[in-house]
Amino acid sequence: MPEDLERAKVVAARYAVEQYVRPGLRLALGTGSTAAQAVRAIAERFPDGRFDCVASSRATEELARGLRIPVRTLRGDDRFDLMLDGADEVSPSLDMTKGGGGALLREKLLARLSASVVIMVDPSKLVGALGERASIPVEVVPFARPVLERDLAGEGYRVRLRVGETGRPFITDNGNEILDLSPREPISDPSAAADAIERHVGVVESGIFVGLASRVVVGHPDGRVDELRPARARRS
Ligand code: A5P
Repeated sequence: MPEDLERAKVVAARYAVEQYVRPGLRLALGTGSTAAQAVRAIAERFPDGRFDCVASSRATEELARGLRIPVRTLRGDDRFDLMLDGADEVSPSLDMTKGGGGALLREKLLARLSASVVIMVDPSKLVGALGERASIPVEVVPFARPVLERDLAGEGYRVRLRVGETGRPFITDNGNEILDLSPREPISDPSAAADAIERHVGVVESGIFVGLASRVVVGHPDGRVDELRPARARRS
């Protein structure tokens, strides 16, 4: 990753932690390189801070525990004060594509359980419409995958099975596979696109996140930060 984008992610993560994290919060931790920077910033800023944390992936859980931030499993009645996470794309209405790291299902669930969802990105993630820069990750049950590949291709997507470092299909923390969908045209109606994808039997969840961001913090390599807020109220 170019150095200035890496720097921009650190700027966004540090700002979000400074502005929004306080000891004692119930925290949902996202996944990916920007969320990892936020976890590092929390550990640095609050070395003795007590947080009640749930992570959206094993990778984040391991990172947090390694930094002495305790992480527990999800409970039925869980609600979080704050979720900190990254995104692959953010549209002008702050809808997002997520799941580049394969954690989209847990990320979406934790975002829905969080009173506030602060998304941290570098400027390259801002797009005019979803699907412009990133493909749309879709978590699917392995048994159904061949049928879904065919059906989603029939709906106009270029469909690629995500492959891991070993050359075998990438397996999510939930034991599923990921199909990365490239739309022919950027997506004009993210809710409708998500509904159409998620309607297929065997699709567990799509990486289209509509109305879930409370704030988007955009870090710049020179240390500047822009904070974007949605025009309409956040969907719970
Ligand atoms: C993880 O599954 C994703 O949703 C990430 O939040 C997204 O891919 C952004 O990742 P980076 O922060 O590494 O760019």
